[in-house]
Amino acid sequence: MDNRRAYDDVAAHYDLEYPGPRTGELEFWQGQLPAPDSKVLELACGSGRLLAPLARGGAVMTGIDSSPAMLARARERLRADPAVCGFGARLHLQSMQDLELEDEFSLVMAAFNALLLVPHRELPLVLERVRSHLDRGGKLVAELFAMTGFDALPDEESAPLAGGSGSWWRDRSYRYDPDLRAGISHVSYRHGRGRIASQHSYGLHLHSWPELETQLVGSGFWIESLYGGFDRRPFRDAGGQLIFVARPSD
Ligand SMILES: C[S@@+](CC[C@H](N)C(=O)[O-])C[C@H]1O[C@@H](n2cnc3c(N)ncnc32)[C@H](O)[C@@H]1O
Repeated sequence: MDNRRAYDDVAAHYDLEYPGPRTGELEFWQGQLPAPDSKVLELACGSGRLLAPLARGGAVMTGIDSSPAMLARARERLRADPAVCGFGARLHLQSMQDLELEDEFSLVMAAFNALLLVPHRELPLVLERVRSHLDRGGKLVAELFAMTGFDALPDEESAPLAGGSGSWWRDRSYRYDPDLRAGISHVSYRHGRGRIASQHSYGLHLHSWPELETQLVGSGFWIESLYGGFDRRPFRDAGGQLIFVARPSD
């Protein structure tokens, strides 16, 4: 499933659902910066939820995203934050598959399932592109979830959104597509009992950790660390949240 334009139609409501960093998330990423003024590339940076606060802390941030609407949200967020403006974060309309920048980075971050947005067959290409954008000593750090048996089960949920002053709701239906090996979600946003304000579908291309590790090693990375949460507890190999730190093998 191609997710490149999947967020265009919900950009206006994305921040209601994800207004800022999750618990421990920003501290985790700040802890990954090799130096406070490190050059960092965020893949699929979306509305700048993480990119803006990292830039505010002094990191020299570049973000790429394939959705013009999500990048417009990120630009707005950066413009609204005078502390960030001074650092001049750069944003590019670019997909992970087409990553092509002049700079090299000491950290390439793939937060919040960014790598799962890439179809399985295109992941080697993305990893190759990432490798070629790392400086000497640079690393790729990705946060995602490793597949468990539960991810193959269909699911429906309806929940109020944390951000936003009104009573915004999000409805989501989920199913697993065994041919694509992807979890497909259809999400809609509505205000109270009102009609749907925006909706979209996206697919997360799921991996178990052993599958993903094989892919990383095959693409010329070695795994320096493997965590099971932002507090850096060890990953227990049972699925769920997974964060890896990978470096080029040569
Ligand atoms: C769930 S949002 C995550 C945004 C951000 N990383 C965050 O943590 O809030 C997913 C983002 O990935 C972008 N995206 C999807 N497929 C992409 C691709 N192949 N290359 C670049 N961006 C992509 C979407 O446009 C969207 O902005």
